[in-house]
Amino acid sequence: MENLELEQVCGKAEEELNAVDDLNALQQLKANYLGKKGFVATIMANLKDLTIEKRKELGMKSNQVKQALEARFEAKRKAIENKIVQAKLATETIDVTLPGVKFNVGAIHPLQKTIMDLEDLYISMGYTVAEGPEIETDEYCFEKLNLPKGHPARDMQDTFYINPELLLRSQTSPVQVRTMLQESGKPIKIICPGKVYRRDADDATHSHQFMQCEGLVLGKDVTLADLKGALLEMARMMFGKERNIRLRPSFFPFTEPSVEVDVSCSRCGGKGCSMCKNTGWIEILGAGMVNNNVLRMCGYNPDKIQGYAFGIGVERVTMLKYHIDDIRNFYLNDIRFLNQFKEVK
Ligand code: DAH
Repeated sequence: MENLELEQVCGKAEEELNAVDDLNALQQLKANYLGKKGFVATIMANLKDLTIEKRKELGMKSNQVKQALEARFEAKRKAIENKIVQAKLATETIDVTLPGVKFNVGAIHPLQKTIMDLEDLYISMGYTVAEGPEIETDEYCFEKLNLPKGHPARDMQDTFYINPELLLRSQTSPVQVRTMLQESGKPIKIICPGKVYRRDADDATHSHQFMQCEGLVLGKDVTLADLKGALLEMARMMFGKERNIRLRPSFFPFTEPSVEVDVSCSRCGGKGCSMCKNTGWIEILGAGMVNNNVLRMCGYNPDKIQGYAFGIGVERVTMLKYHIDDIRNFYLNDIRFLNQFKEVK
C-alpha cells in the first residue's frame, strides 16, 4: 500500500467513498483505511520515529482523522443499506386498489345434480345405491331379463356389442340381475344410477350415451301401489309438490304388468300446453312388477317374493325440470350452458 500523508488520507477516502455503492466494496475500502494494515494504522505505526512534540501533534490529528473516517464509513453503510431497503420496497409494494384475480368457480353438472337428488330421496326411503359395470354380458343385460337371443323386443335397444357375449350395457336393468343373484332370495331395495349406451344417432333427443336410474324393490308384500307411491314421491321431488302421476299399461319383457308413468305437466299444471303437447301429461319412465321369469332366472321364488322395478331416464327428467330442449347440451361442456346451473342448489 502506498504511503499517504494524513492530509491526503481524508481527501482520497472521500473520493473513494463517493464511488462505492455496495456493502462488500465498502467493507474492503474500510479495511484499506481503518484496518490493521490500513493507511491510518500505518501512519500511527510510524509515529514512534518522530520527536515527542511531532508525535503528540500527529498522534492527536491521526486520532481525529480516524474518528472522522469511522463516522463517514458508518454513514455510508447506513446510506447503502437504506438504498437497498428502498429498492426492495419499491418492487414489493402492493397496490391495494388493483382489482383482484377472479377464480372460476365450477358448478355441479345438472345430470349429477339429478342423480344426487334421486339418491337423497330414495336413501331417505330406505333404499341403498347399487352399481354395476358398463361392459356387461348379454346374459345379464338381456337373457336373465327375459329377453332371450332373437327376441323381437331386443330391437327396442340397439346395442353396441363387443363380441356375441359382451356388450356396452344398453340399460341399467342388469344391475337388478346382479343384485338378485347376489342376494339369492332375500328382500331387496335398491336404486342403480349409471351410464348406458345405445347405437343411436345423436340428435336433440337421442344420445349414444346417456344415464338411467334403475330401481328394484323385492319383498313379501310389495305391490303396484307401493310402486306408485315411490314414483309419486320422485315426481314431486323433481317437479314440485302439486304434481300427480298416472300409470298407463305398457310392455317391457322384464315386468308384468308393465306401465309407463306420466307426470302432470309442470308448465301448465295439467291444462295443456306445447310442452305436454296439449295432453297435460308428460311421460317420464317405464316400470312394472318384476316378471316371474326374471325372478326365477335370478334365483327367486315368485310364490314367496315379488316386487317392482322402474327405470328413470336421467336426461329426460333433467331436461323437463330445467326446460332444456337438446340432450347434447349435457355433453358438449359449453361453459355458457353449465354456468346457468351455478345457482341451482
Ligand atoms: N330398461 C328400460 C329401458 O331402458 C327401462 C325400464 C323399464 C326399466 C321398466 C325397468 C322397468 O326396470 O321395470 O327402456
